Amino acid sequence: MKRLSRKFPNTRSRRLRLNKTIRDLVSDVSIDKAKLIQPLFVSDLNSRNTDIESMPGQKLYSLNGLLKEIEILLALGIKTVALFPNLSGFTKDIVGSEAINPENFMCKTIQKVKEKFPELIVISDVALDPYTSTGHDGVVIDDYVNNDETLQMLSKMSINLASSGSDILAPSDMMDGRIGYIRSDLESNGHKNTILLSYSSKYSSNFYGPFREAVGSRQKKGISKKTYQMDYRNIIEANMKAETDINEGADILMVKPAMPNADVIRDLALNYSVPIFAYQVSGEYSMLKLGIDKKIFDNNVIDESLITLFRAGSKSVITYFAKWIAKKYD
Ligand code: PBG
Repeated sequence: MKRLSRKFPNTRSRRLRLNKTIRDLVSDVSIDKAKLIQPLFVSDLNSRNTDIESMPGQKLYSLNGLLKEIEILLALGIKTVALFPNLSGFTKDIVGSEAINPENFMCKTIQKVKEKFPELIVISDVALDPYTSTGHDGVVIDDYVNNDETLQMLSKMSINLASSGSDILAPSDMMDGRIGYIRSDLESNGHKNTILLSYSSKYSSNFYGPFREAVGSRQKKGISKKTYQMDYRNIIEANMKAETDINEGADILMVKPAMPNADVIRDLALNYSVPIFAYQVSGEYSMLKLGIDKKIFDNNVIDESLITLFRAGSKSVITYFAKWIAKKYD
């Protein structure tokens, strides 16, 4: 960027802040519904929607409830959803066997969703945590989340999710090599246009707490997710992950959590030629929502939180506030 020497009063920054119309004309970014993705939780047992206590305002949907909610979202202009299951209708095991059953609840759900709403873009999470007895995203062998054994499960799971109609697969497990493994299996199974949205910089974060309650994947004591998710003290590693993921066939990279990692979003957006998305995660949502509910701050804090992510360089944001924003700007 060109840096001129700018002197007062030739330059008065406040001229362009005079009123809203002028501020809108000169702003760098604005909120566009087409850039928001709504995460939705669906239960394999519930026959009606239930509230998620740790995430006020968010629901765990029944299958019918999910279909109704999607209809509402589409009418509001939210055209992309990320689906997460809360599963308890089967016995979870150490390898997460149910994840690779081509007729499991998620595969059937995605089929129903896409049948009813073919224009909806469905993002499916690829990770074993809803299926394993340990709550880990991979297969535990000898007290370690085994990388290479997990890849085979993730790849089979991906083929099933793609065959069921998912438009975008989002591996969130953080195993090494998974993007390449999944990409090559997708190609050889005819899924050439399935988009891989890699959770590339997925930090091992305390902000995921409310989500784990929502999907019932809170881990027992023992192995830490820190052995596979990224250390939040690192940013050079975020660049390394971006390089490996792009080389292995990722179309889009995700940074998560979003607000604490705006520097990472910026770095990746400037350094790499693929779109960068941000995930404003459950803890970020609950923190803002509880503050608003307690009248500690105004709900404009939601707009601000999203705008700053776009300004940092996110092309789209996954946010639990997507529906709320869509209503506000309807
Ligand atoms: C698990 C997964 C997690 C989230 C998305 N996918 C949690 C975890 O890694 O434990 C977190 C999302 C959120 O907190 O909103 N594969």
